[in-house]
Amino acid sequence: MAQTEAMPVQEQRIGRPSDPCVMVIFGAAGDLTRRKLIPTLYNLAKAHLLSRNFAIVGIAHTQMSTQQFRERLSSGIKEYADGDLDPELWKWFEERMYYVAAEFGDKQMYVRLGQLLEKIDKDHSTRENYFFYLATSPEFFGPIVEQLSATGLMDEKSGQRWRRVIIEKPFGHDLDSARALNKQLLQVATEKQIYRIDHYLGKETVQNILAFRFANGIFEPIWNRRYIDHVQISVAETVGMEQRGSYYDQAGALRDMVPNHIMQLISLTAMEPPVSFQADAVRDEQAKILHAIQPLSSEEVLSKTVRGQYGDGEIDGHRVPGYRQEDDVPVDSRTETFVAMKLMIDNWRWADVPFFLRTGKRMAARHTHIVIQFRRAPFMLFRDTPVENLMPNQLVLHIQPEEGISLRFAAKVPGPTMRLGAVDMNFEYADYFGRQPSTGYERLLHDCMIGDQTLFQRADMVEAGWCVVSPMLDVWKALPPRYFPNYAAGTWGPKESDDLLERDNRHWRNFEK
Ligand code: BG6
Repeated sequence: MAQTEAMPVQEQRIGRPSDPCVMVIFGAAGDLTRRKLIPTLYNLAKAHLLSRNFAIVGIAHTQMSTQQFRERLSSGIKEYADGDLDPELWKWFEERMYYVAAEFGDKQMYVRLGQLLEKIDKDHSTRENYFFYLATSPEFFGPIVEQLSATGLMDEKSGQRWRRVIIEKPFGHDLDSARALNKQLLQVATEKQIYRIDHYLGKETVQNILAFRFANGIFEPIWNRRYIDHVQISVAETVGMEQRGSYYDQAGALRDMVPNHIMQLISLTAMEPPVSFQADAVRDEQAKILHAIQPLSSEEVLSKTVRGQYGDGEIDGHRVPGYRQEDDVPVDSRTETFVAMKLMIDNWRWADVPFFLRTGKRMAARHTHIVIQFRRAPFMLFRDTPVENLMPNQLVLHIQPEEGISLRFAAKVPGPTMRLGAVDMNFEYADYFGRQPSTGYERLLHDCMIGDQTLFQRADMVEAGWCVVSPMLDVWKALPPRYFPNYAAGTWGPKESDDLLERDNRHWRNFEK
């Protein structure tokens, strides 16, 4: 038995270790397991947040032995875990890794999996707690959970053992398919067993939106329509298709980023204070915001959304091909790689405050940020000075690549006349808290292993996100774009995106680096 082995690590613990359990990864031969999941578990073990009574089972249709699986992950961990690899710790991991080569549709496999899990429970004292991570293509989500349930592997015993399933995105490809998937899952599992993961919620700064808003007395009183003019959320990427052309060409920027990551950013920015940090208290408030976003009519889709596709251009001094020249993308593809929109949240706090959103591939810089633009101060005091207009204050939550918060305000330019300049007060996380080794999945996997669903999407939240996006998909499908490509790689997207704000006398805030 291995359960009494001490974990050979020294670092400080900052939370309770996970429950004893087995993580079963479906689709374990893929990149996510090598690049993210295993390095995440390793980081958790290093921080003493992983139970010693732990094991991993990988399942995929790739033929390989358990030994080959371990070797494959070993090369991954060397590449992707932070810092030098601790050989003793990695040995500890290897001793509790198993691999099963099988088709996900093979019913017999689930019986064999059950037997393997029983053996693992005996060898590693994992107490019959299992969580199944579905890192597969979406058509397998429903069938896998059905088979797990049919084999009894989803059966919990209150207070004795738990069974959970983590589902990666995409969760549906429109409202109907998301509803159908929820229905299928909820026929064989309870909402408490389903962890719909959105890796954006694993990012420190995303979680920090709540701390920033609700742990400080000074911001919340002005976080509303009386003081805020509008909100901008930008998720700009410089990457192109990265061998994902065939997936992306079906999905497009809207489906790929908006119902999930961007809806999370909106709901955390706009939600009311929850009554506690209990999972459902937080998610209830998030869900209310998602339900309060006004779905656009067909006419509004035309006037309040913008889609774009990149042509060739230059990124960081290198020429890059246009979208239609990428691998696995049809030369006449009409898929959007950029989307911008103006949404309104129909509630007391946000009435008449536009939320402008944009996301795109191959943009000028990799930068995710939320800009809260405040109303301008009244001008009358400056009437007889050279000041022509007053700039608005902006609070910027920088999500990535650098994590931080900055506040822009006006200051007098030194000199004999009254002139104003914009200055920024900056806070960078790294300056205060240093950097923690992180893949971005640590908090999420740990939360699943301790049964905290706060950072996972509930069925109603997913569906509410799709309710916003589906009318856009419908109109766009009926009216294919005529002028693609319409922005050059390495720019801030199509001109129409700037026009969308300029029509309202507002402007995107861009961060070059
Ligand atoms: C994924 C999308 O969910 O998020 C990708 O499918 C996108 O297209 C990625 O590049 C962005 O994640 P991050 O963490 O790099 O901002």
